[in-house]
Amino acid sequence: MDKIIPTITALGKYVPKKILTNKDLEKMVDTNDEWIKSRTGIKERRIANEEETSSFMAAKAFQDMQERYNIDPLDIDLILVPTITPDMFFPSTAALIQDKIGAKNAWGFDLSAACSGYLYALEVASNFIKSGQYKKVLIAASEKMSSITDYTDRNTCILFGDGAGLTLIEASKDDTGIIDTDLHMDSIGKDFLYIKGGGCLNPATHESVDQKLHYVYQDGRPVYKYAVSKMSQTGYDLVHKHSYTGKDIDLFIPHQANQRIIDACASRLKLREDQIMSNIAKYGNTTAATIPLAMVDAIDDKRLKKGDLVIITAFGGGFTWGAALLKWSI
Ligand code: UT7
Repeated sequence: MDKIIPTITALGKYVPKKILTNKDLEKMVDTNDEWIKSRTGIKERRIANEEETSSFMAAKAFQDMQERYNIDPLDIDLILVPTITPDMFFPSTAALIQDKIGAKNAWGFDLSAACSGYLYALEVASNFIKSGQYKKVLIAASEKMSSITDYTDRNTCILFGDGAGLTLIEASKDDTGIIDTDLHMDSIGKDFLYIKGGGCLNPATHESVDQKLHYVYQDGRPVYKYAVSKMSQTGYDLVHKHSYTGKDIDLFIPHQANQRIIDACASRLKLREDQIMSNIAKYGNTTAATIPLAMVDAIDDKRLKKGDLVIITAFGGGFTWGAALLKWSI
């Protein structure tokens, strides 16, 4: 039997209508548009309303996928949901999405790897496809970051936004698809980026809420340093392992945490501006959803075509990080 190559065969996205601009944030915390733009590249982000939970946004993104491609929800075998903002601890967001999209024949689960969640899910999906056990795996990266963001903390509230990006993973019909992946984790990150409340370590109490333990905490500078160093390295290693160089890359699709991190990673690969995909200015950091959201925007902007060599990289809480090299299939 020929080797099975997993690949992305369909995509969809959803972002809430409500826009929170840097100017809006100026009225909420001691910050300014110029600082946010120059330090992060972010101009605005989307904010979900009460109804727009992670499962809701994923279901909307699935509708978008159905409008773009011919997908029958009954054909989906497995739903993977990388998210740090599940609707509830349980049932899983995967189960809630199954209900909302009518994927009655699927099983599924949520996956926790923060901003590297999409990449981790891609690895899991790919291996299920390679094994031949399942034919269609839906990765539904969906995040309602506004639900875990402290809008009195200027260190974090300027960064995050809400949204969902979905991809369908199947066996490739030709030689395009995922060429290789490179995944890592180092628990050193546990001291720099976390939510301490709500788990069994600090169950929810009046005190835990008063201490704001249910919000994202980030020590920005060390996270920035690790992100630049690890994300650059994994992308560089994977490209060069396959005897390519930056010149061969058609599109670099990095996790959208900070434009300066994106630029530093691109410079390590010696990429030109037209080889870099960035939509951080309009969505901010949507954690696990940034990469699939960027993929959909790249398609809509006609920046991706079949056969293109694509490198994706991510870095997030844990720390977790990694890269995937692929030949675009659609
Ligand atoms: O996606 C998961 C992984 N996360 C990341 O990759 C994010 C990594 N970190 C970052 O992107 C950056 O560290 C931040 C964007 C979070 C911060 O940028 P920075 O250049 O590292 O700023 P800083 O934390 O070193 O702060 C510089 C100054 C400080 O003032 P002093 O101490 O120099 O007087 C901060 O208090 O900027 C101040 N500051 C602000 N000023 C205006 C911090 N936040 C703000 C703000 N507005 N929102």
